Amino acid sequence: VLTAQTADLEVRLQRLREACATRGIEAFVVSVPHNIAYLSNFDGSTALLVVTAARLYLLSDFRYSAAVARLFGSAAVPPAAEFVLVDGSYDAALARLVRTIGAEVVGFEATHVPVARARSWAEKCDAPLDGDGARRLVSVEGIIDGLRAIKDAHEIGILRESAARLSDVARAVLQEGVVAQGRTERAIAADIDFRMKMAGFERPAFDTIVATGANSALPHAHPTDAVVAEGDLVVLDFGGVFGGYCSDLTRTVVAGRPSAEQRRVYRAVYDAQQRAIAAVAAGIAADQVDAAARDHLVAAGLGDVFGHGTGHGLGLDVHEEPRVGKRRDDAPPSRLEVGMVITIEPGAYLDGFGGVRIEDDVVVLADGSDVLTDVPLDARLLDG
Ligand code: GLY
Ligand code: MN
Ligand code: MN
Repeated sequence: VLTAQTADLEVRLQRLREACATRGIEAFVVSVPHNIAYLSNFDGSTALLVVTAARLYLLSDFRYSAAVARLFGSAAVPPAAEFVLVDGSYDAALARLVRTIGAEVVGFEATHVPVARARSWAEKCDAPLDGDGARRLVSVEGIIDGLRAIKDAHEIGILRESAARLSDVARAVLQEGVVAQGRTERAIAADIDFRMKMAGFERPAFDTIVATGANSALPHAHPTDAVVAEGDLVVLDFGGVFGGYCSDLTRTVVAGRPSAEQRRVYRAVYDAQQRAIAAVAAGIAADQVDAAARDHLVAAGLGDVFGHGTGHGLGLDVHEEPRVGKRRDDAPPSRLEVGMVITIEPGAYLDGFGGVRIEDDVVVLADGSDVLTDVPLDARLLDG
């Protein structure tokens, strides 16, 4: 359930309206469910949102009309909103609305709308796709993704709560013998998922990862019937959705006594993570944060086995803007800004030996960061 107040939604909508105004867009069609949720608090699976300078039209069907009525009667009602009941085709209803309001320049989320749907909209609205006439359908990339990257105070409060609850679950998992020799990855993952549900999470943010022994060298392993054995590294990576917002945490533990090499790799990943966290601050390029972790792992001889980015934005989606990774030739570097919430999760994955990943969630501050997750590390791996 999304609980942003009307005033929060007003600010988000205002930013979108400004971005539309600079592009001459009179009506913007939002079709990505989480973008609709961000702007309206409506969290059903099927809807369209049309944002004009003055109004907000929420198009949805019978399955959601009662939920919309409830939302519109609550303190979280979106401002200046009208419900348009769709009976039949969403695309036809959209075209009717566009004609009724008289919008000529209509924007849409090009990154997410299938080509066939964009063509259908263009045809039904009689507005050529990226045409140069007065009536046109304009493909736009990334406006709302960019807005969502910077969390408002309401969102940070919920993300904090999500991370705090996840940390409670993780501490209990680590203290209460959930990860024990003889247990399968599958059983441990089911246990974690059950605990997340009982802690108030709506659902897991992604499929829970429990990877033991050689499997821990697979960054996105799926739980199997493999059993935790003496000397295994066990990677636990899980997250939950609370109040619509994701948290995401990884801890690596050892079953029994760690080897010297396990301790060396663990220490290198931990130090890399601490360096990356220390590098976080508003104004810093995200690739600099990645470099802080990566340079350390390279120096430890583990650069080749750290094959993914250092982190990612966290919000309504578990992976969203900004990307915290190596600089890419085909994308402008993203700069961290106050209010971004990101993960910091370097790892090292050694085929046949096992893997280590340590992940925490942080909010970017003007002069540093605040770590939202709070879960102890494995003292045997850290101190030897
Ligand atoms: N398990 C996905 C992630 O940590 O990004
Ligand atoms: Mn994770
Ligand atoms: Mn993550």
